[in-house]
Amino acid sequence: MATDGIRVVLFGPPGSGKGTQAGVLSERLGVPVVSTGEMLREAVAAGSSLGRKVAEIMAAGSLVDDDTMSEVVGERLERPDVQGGFLLDGYPRTLRQADSLREMLQRQGVALDAAVLLDVPEEVLVARLTGRGRGDDGDEVVRERLDVYRDKTEPLVDYYRREDLLQVIDGDRPVQRVADDIVASLEAVR
Ligand code: AP5
Repeated sequence: MATDGIRVVLFGPPGSGKGTQAGVLSERLGVPVVSTGEMLREAVAAGSSLGRKVAEIMAAGSLVDDDTMSEVVGERLERPDVQGGFLLDGYPRTLRQADSLREMLQRQGVALDAAVLLDVPEEVLVARLTGRGRGDDGDEVVRERLDVYRDKTEPLVDYYRREDLLQVIDGDRPVQRVADDIVASLEAVR
């Protein structure tokens, strides 16, 4: 499919497969992934001032503040490699972040093509995450991340529905089947 300029947000609860799908789709669609979780984990590992600021917040399963995230993403979206399109994994996660993203893209004279929600039942999410063992995958922190998702990120479903960008994908199937459905849904909107 023609992917020139495709700009997609991948969102969904922790463990819904955003990172996994971003990797598969990046290959298939030929656009880079911008993953805020990865960027923040790299900052923590490097011990940068950003990393020191966010380490505790991430370990607790809370959200980094919107202003910090807009700065991080704003800088990233200025770089040459994403001018022909991108897959955003993990951003936006709040209504304010969604507004910031819209404004950033407006300033660049572009817009999102789609916001893809990965829909996965909660018991599957919990099983996936507790089976993985990342630093923020302990039982209590996973519960907190799910609560934060419901409270802060789920309102994006209505936000993107109103913007006519929402694509809901059943994420509780094998990875390649999920990717096939996302590609088909993106073909339909372009
Ligand atoms: P982030 O890294 O974005 O974490 P998350 O949203 O909790 O998501 P995960 O990475 O756990 O899950 P995922 O949906 O990517 O699924 P994955 O593909 O890994 O963010 C981490 C933290 O950073 C946040 O808690 C917050 O503190 C901070 N942060 C990041 N962005 C922020 C923002 N915008 N604002 C504020 N703070 C922010 O898959 C999970 C597991 O399931 C894997 O083991 C995988 O192999 C497996 N799996 C995936 N797909 C399938 C499938 N189809 N079938 C079976 N298993 C599957």
